[in-house]
Amino acid sequence: MVCMSLPKSFSPFAIKEKLEETGLKGKNFKFLTDYSRRQLQSLFEAGEMLEPFWRSKLELMNGKVLATLFFQPSTRTRFSTEVAMIRLGGSVLSESNPTTSSSTAKGESLSDYLRTVSNYADVIALRHPNDEEVFASLAGARVPVISGGWGNVTHPTQGLLDVYTIYRALGRFEGIKVMIASSDLSRARSGHSFALGLAAMGAELLYVGTSENAIPQTILDKLKAADAKVTVRNDPTHEEFLDSLAEADACYLPGCSVPKDDPAARAAFLDKIKPFYITLEALEKVKKKTGKVVGVMHSLPRNDVEFDYAIDDSEFQLYFQQMAFSVPIRMALIAGMVGI
Ligand code: CP
Repeated sequence: MVCMSLPKSFSPFAIKEKLEETGLKGKNFKFLTDYSRRQLQSLFEAGEMLEPFWRSKLELMNGKVLATLFFQPSTRTRFSTEVAMIRLGGSVLSESNPTTSSSTAKGESLSDYLRTVSNYADVIALRHPNDEEVFASLAGARVPVISGGWGNVTHPTQGLLDVYTIYRALGRFEGIKVMIASSDLSRARSGHSFALGLAAMGAELLYVGTSENAIPQTILDKLKAADAKVTVRNDPTHEEFLDSLAEADACYLPGCSVPKDDPAARAAFLDKIKPFYITLEALEKVKKKTGKVVGVMHSLPRNDVEFDYAIDDSEFQLYFQQMAFSVPIRMALIAGMVGI
């Protein structure tokens, strides 16, 4: 005879309760440190419940509408947010070039634009180059707004999908060290959003950058407030960079969000990137020495000078996995913010 000892919480999976535990309903999604470890954990569990449907469909958001307003270029963030709403059974209004095709081109303020679109949508996803303008305009919105990337400081859905990838790949955060490395951390909004999420979940951070293009003060303040375990190393030689890589369980490259038509800013990123280059050979050496498979993460799109394409088909590649996980976790986010 089998004797069962069941915990008090024993019951079938319940997506509605799990989403309610996230505390997301009706709120703007701005920074991952706005949420407790317990709330993010509930969001990840809701994401896991929705994974079976990321390539099919549910009817959780029937009759609900998402508006995507993207003032900067995007493939991944806009499409995965839109497809998340479609997989949930909702509909999408998409404005991929508001500066020329919306009434902001006629001088409408961002605040009025958000207030207007609130009449047509139940949730808005906004990408915008100026975080100060966004923060000054958010009060105009009458529905919750998801940051699809604001200025140089916040891209929380990217951070969320990155933390979710660690959750699914490693299954824990305690005792995990993640390296975030770039020659221009001053513009690395994906990396900083990931850092805030990791800090909220209790992982350790190792930032490797340059003293010239350092981490914005807003982010340092938020990491301090979250009591994050953070080490910052600047201006490494390539050998020092590889030593840092060997300390980590995963390495995140936030790339360069500067458009091609801003040559000065792009030059700042490319000029100092050489010591940060990662090869398959280097990862294999670390594995031989430490026994660790250091996963390489990237927010994408990548630049040729950042890492070896040979990593694509290796056990070290996590960047394409991140993209796949972005759909179920954005499904959970939208359902949590709108409510089911
Ligand atoms: N990672 C990211 O934000 O990609 P997109 O610019 O394509 O949305």
